[in-house]
Order: sequence, then structure tokens, then C-alpha cells
Amino acid sequence: MTGHDLLSAISLLIVLALCLSVLIFHAFTGVPPLSSNATETADVVALLKQADLPEQSIVYELGSGWGSLVIALARAFPNAHIRGIEISPLPYWISRFRTRNLPNVLLHRGSFYNFDLSDAHAVTCYLMIKPMPKLAGLLDRMLKPGTPVVSLSFWFRDREVAASRKSSGLLGATALYYWPARKADR
Ligand SMILES: C[S@@+](CC[C@H](N)C(=O)[O-])C[C@H]1O[C@@H](n2cnc3c(N)ncnc32)[C@H](O)[C@@H]1O
Repeated sequence: MTGHDLLSAISLLIVLALCLSVLIFHAFTGVPPLSSNATETADVVALLKQADLPEQSIVYELGSGWGSLVIALARAFPNAHIRGIEISPLPYWISRFRTRNLPNVLLHRGSFYNFDLSDAHAVTCYLMIKPMPKLAGLLDRMLKPGTPVVSLSFWFRDREVAASRKSSGLLGATALYYWPARKADR
């Protein structure tokens, strides 16, 4: 085997390991690394504009994936600090590359359940049905009352929606909550 063959084999192994890691983290979290499209990110931005965030807001994007929503938020709110948290290594590193020229973006790798979100002025997420109840518990413990939370496609079923927008995407509408958004009869 030549040096060139060895290098090719190692590169192939690294690519395979990264692809495998996407499957493993998908299985672990139950959330696939789908990217939000332009219409969906525009809906999230419109709902956050409606929430009238203060200048220099801190916005957490929970499960920031390949970075599409982080990028849209950073461009729409240039004075805000956009903090993405992503558990899966390949999407995380690709989003790091995609956001390298956006000074108002900070990306962290890890599970958002292990982060302190108490300085959030707003939170966004695009996950799946399964993690929503556990995430609601985390937000109950972390967020100041009245903090805007925007969830793309998957809603917090037991919370009061303040506003919503019907995306053209396959998965349904995007909802704005003012946390903890408890329903009156609860
Ligand atoms: C549907 S993708 C959305 C990506 C991005 N928010 C967007 O709109 O383009 C959801 C992402 O959440 C990540 N995720 C799921 N559970 C997580 C957790 N507990 N901590 C951090 N990231 C998580 C997944 O790895 C996946 O990349």
C-alpha cells in the first residue's frame, strides 16, 4: 500500500465515522438533523420581531443543526447575540464553518439540557414531538417569565400559543409562546 492509498483510506474512514455519528446522534436524541428552509426561518424571524426583543438580546437556538436558523437569526437581528447549541458533531462543525463570518453567532457543542439558559431573551427550536415535554420542563426552570419562545413545526401541546404562522413546509405551523404560557385552566 502506498502513502497515497493510506491517506485515502484514512480520509474515507473519517468521512464514514462522521456519517455514522449523524445516525448515532439521531438515534440518541430521536431528532433528525433536518434544516429549516427559507420560508420557515422567515416565519421564526417574523414571530420574534413581533415579540419586540430588546437590542443586544441573547437568543438561544436549541438544536442548531447545520446552522440555517442561526444564520437567518444572525442576519435578521445583527445586534443580538445568537447562541446555537448542537449535540451532533458533523452538523456542529459544518455550522461552525458556515457561520465563521458572523460575529454575532456563538455555537456550542453539547446537549442543551446541560446548558444554563437563564440569560435568554428569546429561545427558538425545531425538534420533534418526543422531546417537547422534557424541553418544556427545562424552559420552566430556566427562563424568566414572559420570555418569547418560538417553536418551528412541533408545538408545546399544553401551552398557550400567542401567535402562529403557517409555513409552506411539510411539517406545519410555527408558534410563538410567552413562557411559561400556561393555559388558564391549569
Ligand atoms: C430538525 S434539526 C433543526 C436544525 C436547525 N435548528 C434548523 O432549523 O435548521 C434538530 C437538531 O437538534 C439537535 N438536537 C436534538 N436534541 C438535542 C439536544 N438535546 N441538544 C442539542 N442538540 C439537539 C439534532 O442533533 C438536530 O441537529
